[in-house]
Amino acid sequence: MNPQNVLIVGAGGAGMMCAIEAGKRGRTTLLIDHASKLGGKILISGGGRCNFTNLGAGPANYVSKNEHFCKSALSRFPPAKFIEMVERHGIAYHEKKLGQQFCDHSAQDIVEMLRTECQWAGAELAMNTKIERIERLPESAAPLRFRVGISRGGASQSIECESLVIATGGLSIPKIGATGLGYEIATQFGLKLVERAPALDGFTFSESDAASFQALAGLSIEVVIRCRQKSFRENILFTHAGLSGPAALQASLHWYPGDQVIVDLLPEHDPFDLFLEKKRAGNRGQVKNLLGELLPARFAEKFCALHFASELPLPQVSEKALEQFCLMLKNWSFIPSGTVGYSKAEVTRGGVNTDELSSKTLEAKQVPGLHFIGEVVDVTGWLGGYNFQWAWASGWAAGQVV
Ligand code: FDA
Repeated sequence: MNPQNVLIVGAGGAGMMCAIEAGKRGRTTLLIDHASKLGGKILISGGGRCNFTNLGAGPANYVSKNEHFCKSALSRFPPAKFIEMVERHGIAYHEKKLGQQFCDHSAQDIVEMLRTECQWAGAELAMNTKIERIERLPESAAPLRFRVGISRGGASQSIECESLVIATGGLSIPKIGATGLGYEIATQFGLKLVERAPALDGFTFSESDAASFQALAGLSIEVVIRCRQKSFRENILFTHAGLSGPAALQASLHWYPGDQVIVDLLPEHDPFDLFLEKKRAGNRGQVKNLLGELLPARFAEKFCALHFASELPLPQVSEKALEQFCLMLKNWSFIPSGTVGYSKAEVTRGGVNTDELSSKTLEAKQVPGLHFIGEVVDVTGWLGGYNFQWAWASGWAAGQVV
């Protein structure tokens, strides 16, 4: 076990991909994780079917302080390369929508594929293993650069290594093993962090909005949602406390406290034109009922009650009032009280500042031999397979040089 060419902390997608590549190059590689189950996040991803990549994954699908940072790794390890591995292992998969690739059967297929690839590459795996401390060795110890104190089953030992790769992921879902260790290690070595926040978790309403909308819990509507110049056309889902569903999850990645979220509730329609046509044709229906033909009736009723007090039939509603109401339908806006939090978040936005790392090797510029890969880095993908693609690509890139 000691010494190792490469020691990787965190056996998620990024860590395993790095171990495979380093092992294939003949480097002795040890992959350490404190969890008892391998690939916990992969197993719970994509509703148990793992949305393992997205055919369209490119730099525009990621949020980072430096939008160019992810380009190098993503271009050298594109989605097709991961799909090639999936096909080599005979894993059945399908596209669900918008380029998103899912396993037909189970996310376990992806974990077993990566475990097998690690074995074939000769990378050793140590689960249930804790990191106790990390120290830098003096130059006289070269090529060894780090000593890592670990403990397993109550027994402690030290392992020395040439390259140390931190792949501990983000803070979301602490109950399956997420910790802030990667950020602590970055700080220990003087690397700056970009402020972290839970993301892809949806929104919580302010108290008054929650009171207004809680009766709509469970209701889903296809909308266009906008936040900070980004817009997504997918479904929102009302919960008892806020908004979930893919559209709200996407928007939450771009949201900062105080930002307004704007929703086009009828992306397919120009409601003013529709209502006006009906009004001019002498339709005597109430607006809430006419709106109920375009949106779920429960929602139409609530929205009218909140924004269109009148229950007058259409002929008695002024065109001006109609126009204002329709503007509201196209631009319903609210300021969330927050996002849902790490207990539900798919990812952590922010992390190790990319200024500190080489985009080609993911190595810390000031600490030779120390690499950060995957979600722990300030590169966060949209919902839809982009985060795994970053995990594979950054792990692959580091695996070429460690
Ligand atoms: P990851 O979190 O996978 O791995 C980190 C590893 O480090 C873990 O095994 C952990 O146990 C270990 N570790 C942490 N602290 C440690 C410590 N102190 N000591 C030792 N080990 C430690 N993405 C996507 O593209 N498609 C999808 O379908 C989904 N679905 C999805 C669903 C849910 C519910 C969540 C929470 C997340 C997703 N994601 C996703 C996001 C995706 O899972 C995530 O971005 C990647 O798993 C990140 O891979 P990493 O290898 O960087 O971290």
